[in-house]
Amino acid sequence: MNPMNSKPTLSLATAALLLAGTPAMLAADAAENWTKHCGSCHGADGTAKTKAGRMAGAKDLTDGPYQKQFTDEQILQRLKDGVTDKGKEKMKPFKSVLSDEELKALVAKVRTFAK
Ligand code: HEC
Repeated sequence: MNPMNSKPTLSLATAALLLAGTPAMLAADAAENWTKHCGSCHGADGTAKTKAGRMAGAKDLTDGPYQKQFTDEQILQRLKDGVTDKGKEKMKPFKSVLSDEELKALVAKVRTFAK
């Protein structure tokens, strides 16, 4: 290999790697977001057997028939806008907290709980 060429080649490769890595670095992964933003109510396993979950009235996401009541689109919409019941906020809106990509990844994560 010609030593004169090795440096620019390396930095190009590095630049390409950095570019490829950007989206993943910006968006925290779904498991991390679940723990950080959702697990307090819905539980690590989606069963919502947590104090906050009981207080908010979160339902068991491992319940297959329950999950069939909504489409991915509907979940996404409710994650964006939140859930209110008679004017009382049950689940806060996440659209200013998480990106569309992150919310979509969380919808996919929610689906993994259903039995
Ligand atoms: C403050 C507690 C709380 C937090 C935090 C929370 N949720 Fe919820 N979630 C609820 C409650 C309460 C409901 C509504 C249950 C009902 O009455 O149907 C709900 C409903 C849902 C549903 C059912 C779908 C639907 O259309 O109703 C999904 C899926 C869901 N949450 C996912 C999430 C995700 C993903 C996060 C994190 C980004 C999250 N939740 C954070 C309390 C919470």
